[in-house]
Amino acid sequence: MTQYMKVARVDDIQPGEKLRVEVDGAEVVVVNLDGTFYAIADVCTHDGGPLGEGALQGCALICPRHGARFDVRTGEALTRPAFEAAPTYAVKVLDGDVLVEAY
Ligand code: FES
Repeated sequence: MTQYMKVARVDDIQPGEKLRVEVDGAEVVVVNLDGTFYAIADVCTHDGGPLGEGALQGCALICPRHGARFDVRTGEALTRPAFEAAPTYAVKVLDGDVLVEAY
């Protein structure tokens, strides 16, 4: 059964914003896209850049190191120099809490 961990309150992450959290030892970025929450690894698949420090443009999170873009909904690498998708995590909202899947 999938385990979830509370990482924030819904109000802590406004639409268009992101928050870096730790889930069971993994660095994760939680993003609010127009009221829907997504979680993606805080590690760029190109060279380990901190995705959580990058800008969010629509559904794309931009690595601050070399500019690769990742779709936060799927983890897909949208532009070079990254080719590999970043891991994503299931998110659910329960009673105003944001919960992220823990492995
Ligand atoms: S480390 Fe992210 S684009 Fe290079």
